[in-house]
Amino acid sequence: MSEIIVKLPAASYKIQIESGILNMCGERIRAVSSAKRAIVITDEKVWSLYGSRMEAALKRAGFLTDSIQVESGEGSKTIESFTKLCGQLADLHVLRDNLIIAFGGGVVGDLAGFTAAVYMRGLPYVQVPTTLLAQVDSSVGGKTGIDLPQGKNLLGAFYQPLLVVADPALLSTLDKKQLSEGMAEVIKYGAISDKDLFHQLENYGGLDEILPHMEEIVYRCCNQKRIFVEWDERDSGERRKLNFGHSFGHAIEKIGEYRAHSHGEAVAIGMCIAAEVGETLGLTPDGTGERIKKLVETYGLTSKIQTDYKKLIHHMAIDKKNDRKGFNLILLKEIGESLVHTIGEQELEDILGEILELAL
Ligand SMILES: NC(=O)c1ccc[n+]([C@@H]2O[C@H](COP(=O)([O-])OP(=O)(O)OC[C@H]3O[C@@H](n4cnc5c(N)ncnc54)[C@H](O)[C@@H]3O)[C@@H](O)[C@H]2O)c1
Ligand SMILES: [Zn+2]
Repeated sequence: MSEIIVKLPAASYKIQIESGILNMCGERIRAVSSAKRAIVITDEKVWSLYGSRMEAALKRAGFLTDSIQVESGEGSKTIESFTKLCGQLADLHVLRDNLIIAFGGGVVGDLAGFTAAVYMRGLPYVQVPTTLLAQVDSSVGGKTGIDLPQGKNLLGAFYQPLLVVADPALLSTLDKKQLSEGMAEVIKYGAISDKDLFHQLENYGGLDEILPHMEEIVYRCCNQKRIFVEWDERDSGERRKLNFGHSFGHAIEKIGEYRAHSHGEAVAIGMCIAAEVGETLGLTPDGTGERIKKLVETYGLTSKIQTDYKKLIHHMAIDKKNDRKGFNLILLKEIGESLVHTIGEQELEDILGEILELAL
């Protein structure tokens, strides 16, 4: 088993990563919680695949269990599903000394984590992530939240879990598209802060080849995320580097009204754009963009940039991560090292015009 400790001023917690750990997660959770009762918040698909194993593991460790299943997918991060979930907790007479277990992908993690943060002013919770994206990204760092009709993740809380238990064996039932989604974040970690990981990804031929190595991949990514979160829990400095590819990516998602491109696809395209912008500015070594494009395609994502740069800038301008001085872009100094670069609107427009024209 690999273990990472996230050390934060208020509390530290462990991330435990091991193939097959689902069967032992009851005892791992028992080691950090004396709660009599655990309420598993999950989605229908995850519960149908793994619910009985989770329930048995919790019972073996002496927990009384209940489960609440939400519909699979982003639709469960709405205010309506949040209100319904809180009502279900109240109907089950859930109290503050009970434990919430977020068992699923990023949707369940965000929804259950946010609910744990605010229901009765806060209940302890544990993350048991089941998608690659959730294991390498969303389950670590304490960002929780739900969507509003006006935008994604507009309601949220920083709320750290007691423990994260990641079982990479669960990734074998994900479809290829879902695995590729997570790979966009894996490539991101390699690009911004772990060049050995980037080289490792370059050496594997694709999803089938990397799957048996997921325990190590998840460990490396969580360890990178730990470093950023420990530096900057509240996302005002170094942690912003985790947004490499995301400023462009979020705008690409919005342009397609969240239907044309999934998050991972949009981030993959965003990383390719960011590398090219860095090269044009002379901040990123030539050829970096090509390496990222190749990697993105190797793992089933697209690098094709087909978007109107004026629309891209328009959507980036309303992104909450920019300020009056201009756009705060995350660029690469080299593979494995990133920087924050502030650029004015006109300069960015000129560069994007050139890059995107060339790509068409
Ligand atoms: N909090 C954060 O720091 C953070 C970071 C990144 C993304 N997110 C959020 O994460 C969400 C996306 O997460 P996601 O991509 O995991 O999506 P998801 O939770 O919707 O899961 C994707 C699909 O995979 C299914 N699934 C889950 N585990 C499975 C398994 N082991 N085998 C088979 N199917 C399985 C789910 O039922 C669902 O249909 C977004 O809402 C995003 O905003 C949060
Ligand atoms: Zn992301």
